[in-house]
Amino acid sequence: MFSTRSVRAIAIVFALALQFLPSPGDAQPAGIGWDNTIVARRGKAKTVTELSALYDSTHCRDCHPKVYRAWELSAHSESIMGKRRPGRKALAWLTIFDVAKEEWPFTKLGSVADVKIEHLMGCARCHLPQLADAEDSVARELIGDFITWRDAKKNKDFETAQVVEEKLSELSVTCLICHNRNAVVHKWTDGFPSWRVVYGSANKPHPVGKFPAVIMSPIQDEALACGQCHGAGPLLDRESPTQCATGYGFYLFDYKARGGDEICQDCHMRKENLGHNIQSYRDPSMIKAALDFSVEVTPILLHGGPLNPSEAGVKDAPRLRVDVKMMNRAGHPIPDGCPTGTKLILDVTVKSADGSELFFDEKSYMPIPQDYARGDKMGRGPFEKTGLIINTALLPLRKVTERYDIPIAAPDEIEVSVKLTYLPYGSTKEVDDPIVWREFVKKLKLGEID
Ligand code: HEC
Ligand code: HEC
Ligand code: HEC
Ligand code: HEC
Ligand code: HEC
Repeated sequence: MFSTRSVRAIAIVFALALQFLPSPGDAQPAGIGWDNTIVARRGKAKTVTELSALYDSTHCRDCHPKVYRAWELSAHSESIMGKRRPGRKALAWLTIFDVAKEEWPFTKLGSVADVKIEHLMGCARCHLPQLADAEDSVARELIGDFITWRDAKKNKDFETAQVVEEKLSELSVTCLICHNRNAVVHKWTDGFPSWRVVYGSANKPHPVGKFPAVIMSPIQDEALACGQCHGAGPLLDRESPTQCATGYGFYLFDYKARGGDEICQDCHMRKENLGHNIQSYRDPSMIKAALDFSVEVTPILLHGGPLNPSEAGVKDAPRLRVDVKMMNRAGHPIPDGCPTGTKLILDVTVKSADGSELFFDEKSYMPIPQDYARGDKMGRGPFEKTGLIINTALLPLRKVTERYDIPIAAPDEIEVSVKLTYLPYGSTKEVDDPIVWREFVKKLKLGEID
């Protein structure tokens, strides 16, 4: 039998032991070497400033100024706050509160005080993967900063808005995300990324106190390096799955499957010499590389009377045949559709000599996500879009021919114009940055076959 004293002693030992058992909430990674990663060595960030410091890459500029300048021009340097359009993504993250109110009755998310890292990883997984290396206090601080920024903008307090923008500008897909934290995907095969190393194309010394070695990255020259953040499909292993970019999925299951033989880095870094200024639909060289595009206009004089009843009485009804041929040369659909609404539109217009419109047609190309992967309602943002109703985007390596057969009664000169426009936010409003990709104009007289 135990004495009271020994029972008390056992209880104390047991209580002490419990203290050192990891709680299920902060389970440690399985495997060898995780304790040598940046976050394990320096500890999880407790504040936004600590998180910036954890993967701070500003000093890389001292010796890699060209690479650094190129990276600054890329979207990777503005993956949450943004320079081109500050706050747009921050505002999108804040929609978690609207989503929670309207569609997440089981999330227990009412105010900033409830926000956890888990609520934000549906976006941060790609936009700020290092957020996983922070405590919940950082999630709350970050959302608090977004709200401060939003309110300051609303109240025209530009000074406060700028302070927030500057504070958050260090939070992005920095050099150390690609060259350290996310440089290894298969950690049980290749080991966890080591805190004193930058991963590159060879093993060699690196003349930097904090990172004295360059180690060959197993994936830097593979599509996987990019694919890890560019979407293989909906993330079904999350408690509430999200889907945004799906480029890597289509790259694997469509582009490669159809015989495509280039990788992301070929097209986005090497071919157009963009290097770390990794670009897409806004860059002239990428726009040019994106697709083959041609238009053929064929006037036809038909014998045997008009096909269009409104021209009854006209003996020879002239018709206009317009063929638009397109072939997507990218490694994934165009567009890929993050955020929802991104689309390409093709306008075909025929005008008479006096400028009046004789014909107009508009087609759009985009993936149409399914709301929560059920039914026929379109999902709006990454929180909702886990399915697909239909995808009318231009798929890689496929020829698309749009054919128009237009009866034209005008006897004089006409003007045919064809325009392909990329709409990053789905709207043609100037503030939403529509980009004209291809334009074709031809004047001709019907009956003159050239
Ligand atoms: C004090 C100067 C200096 C600083 C600071 C510096 N580097 Fe380097 N880095 C070099 C030199 C020199 C090389 C080796 C070039 C060579 O031999 O090809 C190099 C090589 C590299 C390579 C390998 C390139 C390859 O061949 O694949 C990578 C990746 C790299 N650095 C990333 C970084 C990152 C990320 C940072 C910031 C965390 C950084 N460097 C900071 C000087 C520096
Ligand atoms: C699977 C990775 C991934 C996830 C998850 C993700 N995004 Fe994105 N997001 C991207 C990529 C890649 C782009 C850029 C590609 C593009 O423009 O099509 C992008 C673009 C955006 C843009 C447009 C940026 C601009 O200024 O052009 C917004 C806004 C955005 N995401 C918000 C969000 C929000 C909010 C969430 C979470 C609900 C989220 N994203 C989740 C990868 C992701
Ligand atoms: C989105 C991921 C990504 C980011 C962010 C990134 N790199 Fe790279 N880096 C790469 C890839 C991929 C290559 C290999 C490119 C190739 O093989 O054409 C590379 C190559 C390099 C090289 C060797 C070749 C060269 O271009 O000189 C250096 C040095 C380098 N990166 C430094 C940096 C620095 C410094 C930063 C931050 C300013 C940075 N990288 C940010 C992915 C990235
Ligand atoms: C750590 C995650 C991550 C990695 C790794 C990554 N990206 Fe990105 N990438 C993003 C996010 C997030 C965005 C969207 C940034 C924004 O606009 O908010 C983006 C934007 C882009 C864009 C611009 C899209 C636009 O709207 O203009 C291109 C192109 C791109 N990435 C290609 C690549 C390539 C190629 C690689 C590999 C060398 C790569 N990415 C690696 C996360 C990543
Ligand atoms: C064969 C060349 C090629 C390959 C391979 C390729 N891309 Fe692209 N990518 C392009 C071109 C050209 C564009 C510009 C058209 C556009 O923006 O849609 C583009 C656009 C993009 C965009 C913007 C998407 C959008 O909605 O418009 C992203 C993001 C992107 N690429 C990422 C990637 C990633 C990640 C990979 C590898 C998994 C990859 N790309 C492979 C050529 C390529």
